Amino acid sequence: MRFPDGFLWGAATAAHQIEGNNLASDWWRAEQAGLLPHASGMACDSWNQWPDDIGLLRELGLNAYRLSVEWARIEPEPGRFDQSALDTYRRQLEAMKQAGIEPMLTLHHFTSPRWLADRGSWSSPDVMPRFAQYVERVARATSDLVRWWISINEPSILAFKACIEGSWPPHQPWNLRGYVRLLRHAARGHVLARRVLQAERSDALVSMAFAIWPAQAARWWSPIDQALARLVDWLWQGRILRRSLTSLDWIGVNYYSRTFVGWPWPTRPLGSDKRTDFGWEIYPAGLYSVLRQVGRFGKPVVITENGIADADDDQRAAYIVDHLREVHRAISDGVDVRGYMHWTLLDNFEWAEGFTQRFGLATRERQLRPSARVYASIARSNALPELAAVRASG
Ligand code: FCB
Repeated sequence: MRFPDGFLWGAATAAHQIEGNNLASDWWRAEQAGLLPHASGMACDSWNQWPDDIGLLRELGLNAYRLSVEWARIEPEPGRFDQSALDTYRRQLEAMKQAGIEPMLTLHHFTSPRWLADRGSWSSPDVMPRFAQYVERVARATSDLVRWWISINEPSILAFKACIEGSWPPHQPWNLRGYVRLLRHAARGHVLARRVLQAERSDALVSMAFAIWPAQAARWWSPIDQALARLVDWLWQGRILRRSLTSLDWIGVNYYSRTFVGWPWPTRPLGSDKRTDFGWEIYPAGLYSVLRQVGRFGKPVVITENGIADADDDQRAAYIVDHLREVHRAISDGVDVRGYMHWTLLDNFEWAEGFTQRFGLATRERQLRPSARVYASIARSNALPELAAVRASG
């Protein structure tokens, strides 16, 4: 099962989850104020130890790395840009290029500067020109090194966590107005960011990373559940994707599992019993259907996240192989999939779960797990081995 030539084999991370000491961000402030159950602290200390992260990528033979830059570091106060932070990111990107690793750079991955949070964050219209200005600085400092860009990570998750559930900064449960505005501003922010990036570099390829958890009817025979599933799909993920379609050069898909909806709302987990440490159902076939669904838009697709919380590492190798088989099936059926970024390179600060969920190909001490070797051999050969061989080696 060979993959197309030039297929991007990577891992994905996000700044706040690995860098440590993200002092000027809204998350750091909320963590310190006890509004979140865990504190990120030094995280993986990647702000200092990034050469080791690149070392891991090299050891694995990966040819791509999705990482993010932290707005709060680059613009710790409104209008004051920190050149040394930009320089640090530039050095990382240069080192990646030298190692033959294609960077994929995310500009906003959940966290915002504190000062922006004080002004209403993504729910305020002020965010759009501010975001464009920040993106311009990043583009000026790095765009000669970066072709693949992600403007905003999972706006639908951010909006839900921040303005419906209220469990993430700015902690505003059931702020429906804020929810709608956040999504609207993210869609416009993306358009502005793309304009800025392509003015700096005309061949820049810009997408968002969309969280796509296909919604399924809890009772397949119930027309109410089926209608709800369609509604949730549209509200939750379809709407922002469709709205942004004309300004997407490719489509970034974050896929983990599916979700069941119905009325009354399902109270016990549905689907198969195969679950990750996080309790998420392992459902590789969903990745195929998502890829087919977004493939219809006729744009290149990259799986910008897919991975498993599995501290014992006894399910990860099979998880990777089973999902990649679905990716291969989608490619064979004509979907233009260009790459796969495994979430994640190393165990990190998993938002409200802190360090309890272990998604890493490596530990926080940067010890590679056995499953990482399986992924490495797939990436190196640009092909999926027979499952029997993987089982024997895993
Ligand atoms: C996604 C996030 C990512 C990580 C994974 C497990 O929703 O984009 O930062 O936390 O989930």
